[in-house]
Amino acid sequence: MLAPSVAKVLPADDNGFDQALNELRVERTVAFPTETVYGLGADASSARAVARVFELKGRPRDHPLIVHLGSAEWLAGYADLSSERVSVRALALAAEFWPGPLTLVLPAAAGVMTTVTGGQPTVAVRVPAHPVALRLLTEFGRALVAPSANRFGRVSPTEASHVVREFSEPLLVLDGGDCRVGIESTIVDLTAEVPRVLRPGAVSAVELARVLGEHVVAAAQRSESPAVRVPGGLARHYAPTTRTSLIDGAGLREAAKRQEVAVLAVGELKPSWFSGHWISLPSDPEAYAHGLYAALRALDDSGATEILVSEVPDESAWEAVRDRLSRATNSAHVEMTAAAGDARSER
Ligand code: TXA
Ligand code: MG
Repeated sequence: MLAPSVAKVLPADDNGFDQALNELRVERTVAFPTETVYGLGADASSARAVARVFELKGRPRDHPLIVHLGSAEWLAGYADLSSERVSVRALALAAEFWPGPLTLVLPAAAGVMTTVTGGQPTVAVRVPAHPVALRLLTEFGRALVAPSANRFGRVSPTEASHVVREFSEPLLVLDGGDCRVGIESTIVDLTAEVPRVLRPGAVSAVELARVLGEHVVAAAQRSESPAVRVPGGLARHYAPTTRTSLIDGAGLREAAKRQEVAVLAVGELKPSWFSGHWISLPSDPEAYAHGLYAALRALDDSGATEILVSEVPDESAWEAVRDRLSRATNSAHVEMTAAAGDARSER
């Protein structure tokens, strides 16, 4: 059974923005669309509002949040740009990719709350490329923290209806349609000796290196650093509640003979002999990413005993998708969801 939701979805018109701004001004949260996924927004300078975000998400307190800015001109208020090496990098990437699906990890400015940074000396910042997000930020006039608007560890929402199903508490959701990119922003750490990608996304390490004119360590190349906490870096993350496995083409055809499984294929139409739930995503990595989370949610809701996900090409263009798939299908999640009881009721 799904928990009855009391979230209120509003169209992003003048009335919607008025109500959303009122909520933010009284230190409450508002879910809003970005080009990547929907965010759970709150005033980044309000301890009460930020605490509410952690509470709603069920997110551990030491996991830092991304600070969303209305423009790159706000950067100096949140990041310490006194190191020339860091500021040259940050301004070059901001000029090229903002607004857009790129998050920069920079030394934090003195005023940023430790609840936002997770107690680290760094802060993650980005300017989202969605007209609704940008208007909300501009009219609010201050930064908003905005983690993906899902319960901790679950699949990120790419439609307003997904957000509604995540929370059973009152929550205002601004509806901006479905998210163009569909997976979370690339996170690049600019404070290290060599810039390094902490979470792969639509902006690749190769593109970052081209703009910076220096080497950038790709997410797949880096060895895990316990000093930097990236919740998206946990093995089990972005996971459906149904057991989900990655499988190659031959294995898929074999396993799909069990008609009670659900299948996420890539570019392959449902075979005539298969009567279960089958979703085929395009064989282009960007189009695949766009549809991925909605597909995982639909298959999760299908009542299937297991979700089988067809492997995607082992090419760099697919890195961000492969990262999300490996987290969604990590076997560790099976024990975790079993321990959580009927995890489906959390959605
Ligand atoms: O696309 C996105 O980035 C979305 C939309 C809503 O903007 N937001 C998002 O937020 O994915 P969230 O909270 O689900 O993920 C934030 C990620 C986490 O992996 C967190 O650890 C990392 O950013 N992060 C935040 N501050 C950091 C810091 N100072 N150093 C390293 N990682 C940081
Ligand atoms: Mg998230």
